[in-house]
Order: sequence, then structure tokens, then C-alpha cells
Amino acid sequence: MRILLVLSIVLAVILGCHAYSATWGRRNSTDYLLSRTTEARKPVKNNYWNINVNYPTGKYNISAVIVYDNFKNNSGASPSLYSGGPGYRFATVNLRGLVSQGIDSTVEIWGR
Ligand SMILES: *[C@@H]1O[C@H](CO)[C@@H](O)[C@H](O)[C@H]1NC(C)=O
Ligand SMILES: *[C@@H]1O[C@H](CO)[C@@H](O)[C@H](O)[C@H]1NC(C)=O
Ligand SMILES: *[C@@H]1O[C@H](CO)[C@@H](O)[C@H](O)[C@H]1NC(C)=O
Repeated sequence: MRILLVLSIVLAVILGCHAYSATWGRRNSTDYLLSRTTEARKPVKNNYWNINVNYPTGKYNISAVIVYDNFKNNSGASPSLYSGGPGYRFATVNLRGLVSQGIDSTVEIWGR
């Protein structure tokens, strides 16, 4: 019973994290904010938002990509890192919303 409880908590944490904010890489205190993009869209009935946030190749190395879900109610977009990111000079982050829900996410690119 105990192991089941632990497993369901672990599962809840994994599933819960999915729709929330995400971080790839590690930001240093000396890193620069290279880009901050906020994508906010109104809900579309029976459809979902699927948006790519593109950071074109710059001259700094990316150390971290951070996505904040500005909806705090678990109905925001799931972020995923499509290409690039930490260790590269470019990044593409995909934001996929839920059906019939809007999105409001902020994507930050940090580098050095
Ligand atoms: C990261 O920050 C620490 C101090 O907080 C510094 O000593 C270190 O050199 C930094 N690393 C890079 C790769 O900039
Ligand atoms: C980016 O990373 C490459 C390879 O690690 C390094 O040679 C280059 O100096 C870095 N550029 C900057 C601006 O830190
Ligand atoms: C979540 O919060 C946002 C912003 O406050 C709102 O637009 C949206 O309808 C909410 N979604 C749900 C399922 O409550």
C-alpha cells in the first residue's frame, strides 16, 4: 500500500509538472537575458494553440531556457524544447495548449 501511495505521488508530480513551467539548462548569476517572449492567446473552441517560439542564432551561448506558465490553474500550454537550447546559440520552444483553452506563457532565453 505504501509503495502505491509513493508511486501515485511521483506520478502526480510528473504529470503536474508537464503543464506548468519548465527549465532546461542552468542559469548562472552572470548570465544575460537574451530574449523574453510572452505568447498570450485567447481560447478557440474545440481547437488548441500550437506555437513555436524561435530564438535565431545569436553570438552568445545559451545556458538556460525557462518557460513560465502565466496561468496558474493548470490550463496553460505544455512547453517542449524542439531544437537548440543550452549549449547551442539558437533555440525553438514549442507551446502546445489544451483544447478550448487559451495560453499565456513567457519564454526566457539566458546565455553567456
Ligand atoms: C558561473 O557563476 C560562478 C559564480 O556564481 C562563476 O564562478 C563561474 O565562472 C560561472 N560560470 C560560467 C561558465 O560563467
Ligand atoms: C560558446 O561555446 C563554445 C564552445 O563551448 C566556445 O568555444 C565559445 O567561446 C563560447 N562563446 C561564448 C560567447 O561564450
Ligand atoms: C485559467 O486562468 C486563465 C487566466 O486567469 C483563464 O483565462 C482561464 O479560463 C482559466 N482556465 C480554467 C480552466 O479555469
